[in-house]
Amino acid sequence: MNAAGQQFAFFDLHPPVDDMTAEVQRGLQESPKKLSPKFFYDERGSRLFEAITRLEAYYPTRTELGLFDAHLQQIAALIGQDSCVVEYGSGSSLKIRKLLQALAPSAYVPIDISKDFLLSNAQTLAKDFPSLHVFPVCADFSQAIALPPQTNGMHRVGFFPGSSIGNFEPEQARTFLTRVAGTLGRGGHLLIGVDCKKETKTLELAYNDPDGVTAQFNLNALAHLNRVLDADFNLRAFAHEAHYNEDLGCIQMFLRSLVEQRVDICDEHFHFAAGECLHTENSYKYAPAEFAQLAGSAGFDCQQQWLDEKAYFGLYLLRAR
Ligand code: AVJ
Repeated sequence: MNAAGQQFAFFDLHPPVDDMTAEVQRGLQESPKKLSPKFFYDERGSRLFEAITRLEAYYPTRTELGLFDAHLQQIAALIGQDSCVVEYGSGSSLKIRKLLQALAPSAYVPIDISKDFLLSNAQTLAKDFPSLHVFPVCADFSQAIALPPQTNGMHRVGFFPGSSIGNFEPEQARTFLTRVAGTLGRGGHLLIGVDCKKETKTLELAYNDPDGVTAQFNLNALAHLNRVLDADFNLRAFAHEAHYNEDLGCIQMFLRSLVEQRVDICDEHFHFAAGECLHTENSYKYAPAEFAQLAGSAGFDCQQQWLDEKAYFGLYLLRAR
């Protein structure tokens, strides 16, 4: 066993705390107005996202889980023994549990910016996988990260499921993947799930579900700002919209102002024209060849890829050069 010493150790890299008020105000001063998708995820937002993943219209989660069930044994054989799984964004979810079960790695390093969430998930997983060494790292995972020294010599396997990569602009995605390659080191693997380009109708239904859960999720960003900042968004005066932008290859989500209105955030006022849009999320989609090329330009070779029978979602096993 390489991971000598404790079973559990916490590494706090003290990610800088950003000034949320200033960040939100800056986005609303831009034209068009924008808000980072990270503001979706307060407690209610995280629950709404979980509800989205169970919707009939939202195919990505169940399709990715289907790919895991079908191929994790093969993936484990390709990766081999004595690995260290590095998860970008900590999850208490089914996906990491399936991976840990199949791979039986020596160590698990969840990386997340939210310390409390990270620690409680890591402790739960450590209890459920008693022979696993668990080394949570509190850090901004879009930055370069020094992994815990206990994992030196282990074969590193990054894990970034759920098409979370789609929230980055393609250029940022390349920068992110380049940093991940550096963190994992030469020969390290990255197992990443990426949503495919497909018919507009299918994509738009996934982000305009008939039950309106995605609309609630989108509007919840405003409720979140009202609660934690001194803001006064009127949730009934905005409407959810999601369109597939075929030129960019991404779903774009907006909150459209239904009336002319003023919103106050702390000491600043923001004017919305009737019909004006606040841009809340981009979710880029990649054709398999396109993603392999992006990964290639970031220092990875694509060792293998798996698609479901409709080619809705791709699972890629990349290897750092
Ligand atoms: C968590 C970014 C992968 O883009 O599909 C789901 C977020 N937004 N429905 C996605 C989301 C609206 C999701 N990601």
